[in-house]
Amino acid sequence: MKVGLPCTVCCVNAVDRPSGVRLAELVAALSLATDLGLGQPQEHVLRQTVVARRLATAAGLPDDQQTAVFYVSLLAWVGCISDSHELAAWFGDDQRLRAASYEVDKSGISMLRFVLGHVGEGSGPVRRLTTIGRFLAGGPDRAARFMLSHCQTTGDIAERLGLGAQAGGALQQAFERWDGKGVPGRCAGEQIDPAIRVVQIADDVEVFHRVYGVDAASEMLRSRRGTEFDPALVDLFCARATELLDGLDEVDAWDAVITGDRDLGPELSEAELTRVLGVFADYADLKSPSWLGHSAGVAALAADAASRLGLPASEVTLVERAALVHDLGAIGVSAGVWDKPGPLSASDRERVRIHPYLTERTLARPARLAEIGALAALHHERLDGSGYPRGVRGDALSLSARLVAVADAYHALGEARPHRAALSGARPRPAGSTERRRTRCWPPPGTASATGPRSRAISPHVRPRSWSCWPAASPTRRWPSGCRCRPAR
Ligand SMILES: [Fe+2]
Ligand SMILES: [Fe+2]
Repeated sequence: MKVGLPCTVCCVNAVDRPSGVRLAELVAALSLATDLGLGQPQEHVLRQTVVARRLATAAGLPDDQQTAVFYVSLLAWVGCISDSHELAAWFGDDQRLRAASYEVDKSGISMLRFVLGHVGEGSGPVRRLTTIGRFLAGGPDRAARFMLSHCQTTGDIAERLGLGAQAGGALQQAFERWDGKGVPGRCAGEQIDPAIRVVQIADDVEVFHRVYGVDAASEMLRSRRGTEFDPALVDLFCARATELLDGLDEVDAWDAVITGDRDLGPELSEAELTRVLGVFADYADLKSPSWLGHSAGVAALAADAASRLGLPASEVTLVERAALVHDLGAIGVSAGVWDKPGPLSASDRERVRIHPYLTERTLARPARLAEIGALAALHHERLDGSGYPRGVRGDALSLSARLVAVADAYHALGEARPHRAALSGARPRPAGSTERRRTRCWPPPGTASATGPRSRAISPHVRPRSWSCWPAASPTRRWPSGCRCRPAR
């Protein structure tokens, strides 16, 4: 028998084993969620990172700053969802507003014209005028406060991800400008970290190149030369625009950023992977004030239920992780929809119904995340096929999928939402409805997993106390007049 190093199969504590996922891959996956919040097509931030790295190389930035460019680019706009609720309240659709913001130089008269052109969007003329008046009464720095909130959130996320001080410092300057008129306005010119100067250019260039072409991207940069952007970097980019944007439309951005990277660092341990997914959970919950703690709460509930059911430890971990990230795709739906106090329109409901799919797409790579995303994407499916987005039914829903779905529904019912109050635990269930509703998401009565001692042990946790708002809309379901039910998050 050999002695010496412990084997990696049985001697190493499970939580210390390599997970097969590196931090850089998780940060790249998080950037896909950021795309959703920005109202941009998937892989906008990844393509921006391709451009940023090419520009950083062309500018001759040293290796440590090129590494900083990688993380700064992937995370620069991650905090942009932190005030989605407030943006939606003022502008109607936070994602549409962010997407439109690329068209303007975000300072002075052009910024004021942009803001006033979108305040109260979607409202009637009288209400819109009232909203504009209230917005102006809040002071000229209201828009700046939004940006400060972004920086704070981004800094918090970078710190929780354990990124270095260089990336963290640059991220705090995401809204600074070369002319010193940025936010928070503490630096200007070459005082701004080179990494963020490169990323600022790459961000707008990716959008203009994709929508209008190479010449339009160069023209946009020249129009903001020395105001928003570093003039030397603008000159460099415009002189080599064709080369720096070569093949960008065809490139697989994930491969270019991740697979092509020289040093992505070591794999995270299993415990570290779960911890980072906990950051994802809190990030998803930023979309609406009423979601605070939702994802972590669902994960704790689902993992506890899976453990009590006697599932293998690896499956309990998978359930916990899927529950942590189950609503990541909710970032892709406007806060104006999630926070609407009244009934949702047909269009709103369609947007809500797609959020589990967006979760799955956000976590499509690498393979370890894809497994988690696939399970998370089932959290609104129901046994009778009435769930969404795919209408998966019956045996196609594994026990783990059912656990995540039940934990999500139960936890959500105990939380207040803009359209309903939190349901009290003492609230009685409607008579006669329990068995019918139970079959939507829990194994039908008589099956082993539904009637065994373990299921009885967890039933207080997994059985919703009230069924009046059960989230099981079908595409054609009509919500009864006065009913406050609707597709749930
Ligand atoms: Fe949820
Ligand atoms: Fe959801």
